[in-house]
This record gives sequence, C-alpha cells and structure tokens, in this order.
Amino acid sequence: MAEIAVVTGSTRGIGYETALALGLSGYTVVVTGRSEEAAAVAAKQLGERGVDAHGHGLDVTSFASVQRLADTLAHGYGQLNVLVNNAGIAAEWAAPESVEYAHPESVRQTFETNVLGVFHTVEALLPLLRRSTPARIVNVSSFVGSLTLQSQADPSDMTVPAYQASKAALNSLTITLSKALANTDIKVFSVDPGFVQTDFSPINRTHAPLTAAQGAEPIVAAAMLKTDAPSGSFIGRDGAVPW
Ligand SMILES: NC(=O)c1ccc[n+]([C@@H]2O[C@H](COP(=O)([O-])OP(=O)(O)OC[C@H]3O[C@@H](n4cnc5c(N)ncnc54)[C@H](OP(=O)(O)O)[C@@H]3O)[C@@H](O)[C@H]2O)c1
Repeated sequence: MAEIAVVTGSTRGIGYETALALGLSGYTVVVTGRSEEAAAVAAKQLGERGVDAHGHGLDVTSFASVQRLADTLAHGYGQLNVLVNNAGIAAEWAAPESVEYAHPESVRQTFETNVLGVFHTVEALLPLLRRSTPARIVNVSSFVGSLTLQSQADPSDMTVPAYQASKAALNSLTITLSKALANTDIKVFSVDPGFVQTDFSPINRTHAPLTAAQGAEPIVAAAMLKTDAPSGSFIGRDGAVPW
C-alpha cells in the first residue's frame, strides 16, 4: 500500500504543488479545501497528471470538519504517513478599514486558521499518524514569523502583525509538538516556502520571485525526510531559518 499524505489547503497555490510533487513521488494524496467541489476539481486535475489523488472538503477552523476527515481516513486507509499543515490566510490583506495596528476581526480569522486550525488537525489526525511511523508533520510557516528576523527588520516591513504573530505561534507549536512526540517515530518541522507567486495576497503574483512549485520544494523535502534537520527544526530552501 502506498504511503498516505494529507495536504490541508491544496486546492491551489503551494498546497496544490505539494500534493502534485508528493503524488508524483508515489504517495496517495488527500487533497483538501473548504469547498468539497474545489477539492474534487483539484483531485481530478492531479489525477489527470498521474497522481492517486482524492478530494475531501475540510475547514481547519472547525474541529468537527477535521474529525470527519479523520473518520474518512480511518475507514479508507487506517493510516496516515504525512500531514502537511499548509492551509493559511493573511486576513489583514482583505481588511478594508484603516486600523491603528491590527483589526480584531482579521486577527481572529488569521489565528483561527493558521494556529487553531493546526491544533485541531494535529489533535484529530495524530492517532492515525501514530499507526504509521515513521510519520511526518510539516507545518507551513513563514520567514516573516521568525522572531529573530522580525526584531531585525525595518519598521516598514511590519505590515501584517497578526499574520506574523500567527506564524510565530505556529513555530512554537512545532517545538512543543516535537518535544511531546520525542519518544515516537513522528518528526515535526516548520518549513518556510519563501516568497511565492500565489493568490495569497495582492502582491504575491507581482512581487514574489518563486513559483508555487519552487515554494513546495522544501515542504516536500521535509515530508520525505530529505533533510538532515532534526525533528523540531525550522527550515527553508537554504537550510535552517532562525526562530
Ligand atoms: N505565498 C507565499 O509567499 C507564502 C510565504 C510563506 C508562507 N506561506 C504559507 O503557505 C501556505 C499556503 O499559501 P499559498 O500562498 O499557497 O496561499 P493560497 O494560494 O491562498 O492557498 C491557500 C490554501 O488554503 C486553503 N484554506 C484557506 N483557509 C482554509 C481553511 N479554513 N480550511 C482549509 N483550507 C483553507 C485554501 O483553500 P480553499 O479556499 O479552497 O478553502 C487554499 O487551498 C499558507 O500557510 C501561507 O501562510 C505562503
């Protein structure tokens, strides 16, 4: 039986390319997004490119939704080898109002998806990952979440504080989860894909240097353990990223 990989938020962008690369490497890939239809379309497209892909609706902000995915996986496969926590938003880009610092609703939405969503997904899928060791959990983080780089950056670069705080919190999750799983064969990584041409923000398509396929590369490398970094590391295209 092929190894099973779940990629959250894989209807487009970095998640889609991660699913494609894992699928072409022989994984059975579960493709997810909030819309069941969009997930099915993405899975069909991947299937036409030779990937064993299966679409599943998933909203990571809902624990019930993640639990439904866990039940489907348990009945369909009984195992899970790779979990890529890729679903993410930066709600500040969509907030129209001018704010002093951070719009409360943007902060809530960003943390619900980028932080609570990963806690939900890990909690629901960990029993399946434990059955499939060696297993891998890859949290798609960002260099803008690095506290080291934030403290060194020019003030004008600090434009999305809720998003940056959410990725710093996600990095903390990576550390604490890797320690909680230290006596298991499950490895946990935070991965920075770099600045990537996706629909993530109004500037990504025009300003980012990397294609979505390139952004997926370090995520796929971590998922396939093609890295020397120990569990609990923060890594990117060029190796270690400072916390
Ligand atoms: N692009 C960059 O330069 C960059 C840099 C560093 C880190 N990242 C991180 O990389 C990840 C992917 O970003 P991207 O650029 O590929 O963005 P994207 O093109 O906007 O894709 C985001 C994906 O997340 C899904 N999603 C959003 N909210 C969700 C929810 N509540 N539940 C489940 N899925 C949800 C979307 O699917 P549906 O809309 O179909 O639900 C979509 O598939 C994010 O975590 C982002 O923070 C991106």
